[in-house]
Parts: sequence; C-alpha cells; structure tokens
Amino acid sequence: MTIFERMPIKEIKGYDILPLIKDPAKPETIREATVHHSIRGEFAIRRGKWKLLCSPRSGGWSYPKPNADKEAIASSPLIQLYDMDQDPGEKHNVYKEHPDIVVNFAAESHVDRSIEDPGIFLQTNIIGTSVLMDACRKYGIQRYHQVSTDEVYGDLPLDRPDLFFTEETPIHTSSPYSSSKAAADLLVLAYHRTYGLPVTISRCSNNYGPYHFPEKLIPLMIANALADKPLPVYGEGLNVRDWLYVEDHCKAIDLIIHKGRVGEVYNVGGHNEKQNIEIVKIICKELGKPESLITHVGDRKGHDMRYAIDPTKIHNELGWLPETKFEDGIKKTIQWYLDNREWWETIISGEYQSYYEKMYSNR
Ligand code: DAU
Repeated sequence: MTIFERMPIKEIKGYDILPLIKDPAKPETIREATVHHSIRGEFAIRRGKWKLLCSPRSGGWSYPKPNADKEAIASSPLIQLYDMDQDPGEKHNVYKEHPDIVVNFAAESHVDRSIEDPGIFLQTNIIGTSVLMDACRKYGIQRYHQVSTDEVYGDLPLDRPDLFFTEETPIHTSSPYSSSKAAADLLVLAYHRTYGLPVTISRCSNNYGPYHFPEKLIPLMIANALADKPLPVYGEGLNVRDWLYVEDHCKAIDLIIHKGRVGEVYNVGGHNEKQNIEIVKIICKELGKPESLITHVGDRKGHDMRYAIDPTKIHNELGWLPETKFEDGIKKTIQWYLDNREWWETIISGEYQSYYEKMYSNR
C-alpha cells in the first residue's frame, strides 16, 4: 500500500500536488498546498490524523528524475509503496488505519494535456474518485472532501462582467479535463445520496503559488522569462482567470472539512480577475524583462473565455475570505521561483522538454 508517513515535503519534491504541512506542532493543519497537478500513479500521504490522497498511476515515478525520487521514497522506513495498478486487491489497505478525513486533491489537471490525451483524465479523475470513495464506504470515514474546480461551470462571456459562477450555476463543461472533474463531482454527490457518504466539494478558481507545476501559465511564464525565451500567450491573451493564492485555497478546504455542511458544494475564489496578457506583463515587469518576449501563439481548442467565482456562500457560512492580495502573492511566488530554481529546473530539463516541444513548437 502506498502510505507516506511524516515525510518532510522536501524529500518528495517534484510532486507538486502534495500538500505542504509546515507546522509540525499542528500536523493536522494544512498550511499550504499546490493543487494543480498530479503525477501518474496512486499514493496516499499520511500525517497525523490526515491521509491525503494523490493519484499518479504506475510509471509516473519516472518524473521528474526517473529513479531518484522513487528510490528516495522507497528507501524511507516511513513509507511503503504500493502500486494500485499492479495489485488492485490491496487498494483498500490504505484505510486500515482509519483516517478521519480524506481530502482528494488528486487530479490530472492540465487542460492542454487533456486535449491531447483524454483517457488518463477519465481514469484518474473519475475512476480514481470512485476507488477512494468505495474505500471510504468500506472502512468508514467522517468526511470525504473532493477538491474540484470552477471549470465544471464552463465559461462566462467577456462582455458580461456582472455574471459569476454560483453553486447553482449549471454544470456545462468545455474540455475533457473539466468534464472528468464534473463527472467526479456528480459521483461524489451520488455517493452521498445513495450510500450516505459524508461528502463536501470545493470548486476553486485558478491557484498560483509555490510548487506550481511549470506547465501552467504563471510558472511557465516565469521560467521562460528568466531564460529570455518567448512567452507563448494563447490567442490574444484576453481570456480572464480568477487568481487565488494557494494558501487561501487550503484555508478554505480546512474550513470546509471542519465546519462545512455535509452534502454541500462551496465555491472558492477571491474576485481577482485578470486577463492572461495582464498576468504575463506583470511577470515581465517584476522580473525586469521586456514585453517583446511576448509571442502570440495558436489558441487552445475550446478555450474558456472567463472564469469568475461568487464566493458568497463560503464567506457567509464559514467566514472565509482570501488573505493574500494578488500584488503580494505574485511577488512572493516569483521570489519563490527565484529561490527554488533547482526544483523547477530539474523538472523542465526532464521529460517535460518533449512535452513542451510537442505543445509549443508548431503552435
Ligand atoms: O480554474 C481552475 C483551473 O485552473 C484548474 O481546474 C486547472 O486544473 C488549472 O490548470 C487551471 O486551468 P487553466 O486552463 O485556466 O490554467 P492554465 O495555467 O493552463 O492557463 C491559464 C490561462 O493561460 C488559460 O487561459 C490558458 C492561458 N495560457 C496557458 C499556458 C500554459 C497561455 O496563454 N499560454 C500558456 O502557455
């Protein structure tokens, strides 16, 4: 069984979905997490009363350094590796210790990858979710929390700034990624109604912050700008995303699992809408790089125009409000990428290069 126990986050660098639990005095508190990417394989992290589940599939251990991380993980006395694909009969062992709460951060999360290869998204995001929930049913759980996305609502038009996604907005997806997340959300709600599983769902807007995988807009632009490489903006760059610092997202999840009502969906977002081109220009400015690096490339297929969350419910019911202003968060994020070059340079020098070549060379 794959159980990671009391592993300092540094030892498992490269898995950017991993939650960073920074305060050893309060191991049950998630202080920070990046939630945008999973590696292929399936594993769980346990710390204190938490068991945090990610779902890379077998083979994904080759990322970012083929064997180094796997060996480091396998050689730790605190960790057992279990490949769910190899021995599905063992999968429920992850719950032998009876965690109180399961937070499913796991996802194949990159829209562009889902357009290239939808299958793995269906496997990880839909089947993976049902596997976890079946185990929760079998072993009993106080709360199963599903980390979802605002992308399940589709997009909003640019000329209607008065419109926002509420929890009542119909599901209306655009990409294989968002469709797989929507399917998972429906399954979660179905497990609640059919089996009485105590579930909650959060649907968050775009995150940014430390350990954000370099294929996503903000880290990609930081890495390219630092290397004086072209900054590939899809289309005109007018698409709008609603950016939230990752710690604010984690605080929202923390509140929901402790105080949120079972069976409910909570939208999470901080009213921080920005066009992609604005973001890229901010990054150029912060890094002292010329805007002439900006290169408009072919648009994403089915590209969602605007995401905008209405967070009234989580604010009114749970008192959540974002704490990090974008101007501060983006500075902190850029500084983090400057201070942690080894982490992302290792990633972009590996398998990622062929991904980048495939996605951007003829765009
Ligand atoms: O809204 C929440 C979602 O945010 C999450 O559910 C997804 O997992 C996460 O990946 C993110 O989705 P986006 O597609 O919005 O994120 P991404 O960073 O890929 O792209 C942000 C915007 O920037 C989007 O309009 C596409 C554009 N873009 C992206 C890349 C990577 C570019 O213009 N150039 C690029 O090279």
